Amino acid sequence: MTAQDRAPEVRVFADAAAAVDVLLGEVRAALGRRARPLLGFATGGTFHPFFARFAAELQQGAIDERAFVATHLDEYLGFPPDRRGGMVHELVSQCPPFGSMLVHGTMVPVPHDGDPERLRAHEERLQRLGGLELQLLGIGRNGHLAFNEPGTAFELGFHRTDLAESTRQDARARFSPEEPPQRAATAGIASILAARRLVLCAFGAAKAPAVRRMLRDPVGVACPATALRRHGNSLVLLDRAAAADSGLDAAPAAG
Ligand code: GLP
Repeated sequence: MTAQDRAPEVRVFADAAAAVDVLLGEVRAALGRRARPLLGFATGGTFHPFFARFAAELQQGAIDERAFVATHLDEYLGFPPDRRGGMVHELVSQCPPFGSMLVHGTMVPVPHDGDPERLRAHEERLQRLGGLELQLLGIGRNGHLAFNEPGTAFELGFHRTDLAESTRQDARARFSPEEPPQRAATAGIASILAARRLVLCAFGAAKAPAVRRMLRDPVGVACPATALRRHGNSLVLLDRAAAADSGLDAAPAAG
């Protein structure tokens, strides 16, 4: 396989809502590929329209919550599942069935104390669960994936990290009037690339420069999202605004 072959498939939609059917299709495809797959979800406003629909499918029984195990990418240090602002708290608020999955142990939270031993054990637990069949991803304005900020080695697994200033700025509203956290535990780029299927979503003009760098810049730690081009089974879903700097907007795919 050549470097070129590893470029993600990119689809451009009129708006974020139009991409939700594709995301649900990716979840269904993952459920069809193996029994009780491990599905990695992502936080951020990017996924809120998806979670509204996904939660409804789970609540109506159209997707069986016992048919998969769920996990996620990252957590602010010191944020247990019931603490507002935390990633698990967000996931459960956006998709209430995750709350009962947490109770049943089928939603696997990232250890929020960032203890290296626990993070290693978490990574091993994901492997014992069969490894990630599907990992959903957003992208930071600075090109981060999960909380892998620019400069982070691609070889790292789950680890503790300091947050970039732009990341803290973007998180300010969710913690107001408190200051946003400085540190987090995150899946490393190596953990993310170990997933068998990656689907990255970016919507809105604020993401357009990061999307261009992800797709066009040399692959390297200056833009962590370029790691996607090392994967070989990835899909990027954009709206026209997020695609605008990448020379893709003139030829939108179906959607
Ligand atoms: C946080 C998460 C990332 C996510 C990003 C984008 O930084 N750690 O995984 O991609 O937010 O968030 P939003 O979708 O709100 O733009």
